[in-house]
Amino acid sequence: MGLIFSFFTVVALGVIVFIGVKAADMRYLFGVIIPYAAFFAFLIGIIYRILQWARVPVPFRIPTTAGQGKSFPWIKQNTIDNPFTSIGVIIRMTLEVLLFRSLFRNTRAELRDGPKLSYGSTKWLWLGGLAFHYAFLIILIRHLRFFLEPVPLPIEIVEALDGFFQVGAPVLYITNLIFLGAVTFLFLRRVVIPQVRYISLAADYFPLFLIGAIGVTGVLMRYFLKTDVVGIKELTMGLITFSPVIPQTIGTIFYIHLFLVSALFAYFPMSKLMHMAGVFLSPTRNLANNNRAVMHVNPWNYPVKAHTYDEYEDEFRNVMKEAGLPVEKE
Ligand code: HEM
Repeated sequence: MGLIFSFFTVVALGVIVFIGVKAADMRYLFGVIIPYAAFFAFLIGIIYRILQWARVPVPFRIPTTAGQGKSFPWIKQNTIDNPFTSIGVIIRMTLEVLLFRSLFRNTRAELRDGPKLSYGSTKWLWLGGLAFHYAFLIILIRHLRFFLEPVPLPIEIVEALDGFFQVGAPVLYITNLIFLGAVTFLFLRRVVIPQVRYISLAADYFPLFLIGAIGVTGVLMRYFLKTDVVGIKELTMGLITFSPVIPQTIGTIFYIHLFLVSALFAYFPMSKLMHMAGVFLSPTRNLANNNRAVMHVNPWNYPVKAHTYDEYEDEFRNVMKEAGLPVEKE
């Protein structure tokens, strides 16, 4: 259900632009107003969510302990999986963000004949996820050429490396293959593995279809339905200098690409894609496990008005004696 709904939502987004641009010439809406609105929704939404998370008190350290914590000197500590210092935390976080280290340790549980429960290593999700994110990153870096004039050398270098194999004209970017391949893999994994399909919702399929459709429209635009890239650069430079222009030479496929990107940006803050920022704010990942060495005081502790037994007895001693109750002080 979530799958069909997400698929047709993305198709509908494409059809809306097609009709809007082709039949109603709403280029300004799709080329200027919606991208601006989406960008600001993205910015404000992300700031809002980060502030929401940052406001949640974290009084105690709740580190995930995927390795031996600091203990006696003769017990070997796992300094990365169970860091004791901030440096250790930074190393763990860096490896997590750049290499998806915890996903690398992902295991699969299976019931074999016997019945016997067995755990196996499973690296495909890690590999697919890593390929997807890095291809995405490189594509975004390459896209900076539309927003910078003159195009900085590092971006030219990334472009040259990405097109290294020089297949055909325009040169085939290797990241385009990896990107579309990885999105397809991540989607098939959800539908083919019954357990994963069971827990998959529209919120899982929709971003996959949307990002897949952005990739497909980008590839169509670059290799098949050629559009006026010079005109597009005029438009993008107009957007970032707040003096928008709409060159009439740009094909509809570009507006579809841009609208899907706008949809992704607007949707981003309210979706699971916020893991991009959330990973840094995750208390199980960003705190050193020094619970036993350092006293952590709950920051919102207030002085509690206590009434000790001594005070109680002082107050009621006479009455207690009259009732025949034992007292500590006469
Ligand atoms: C989430 C953001 C985006 C993604 C994932 C994405 C993805 C892609 C992909 C995979 C391609 C195929 C060719 C290539 O890799 O260069 C492409 C091409 C293209 N994209 Fe994007 N895109 C994004 C945002 C944008 C934005 C914001 C613009 C402009 C405002 C844009 C304009 C273009 C253009 C003009 C092409 C054709 C490039 C050429 O012919 O060489 N894209 N995009």
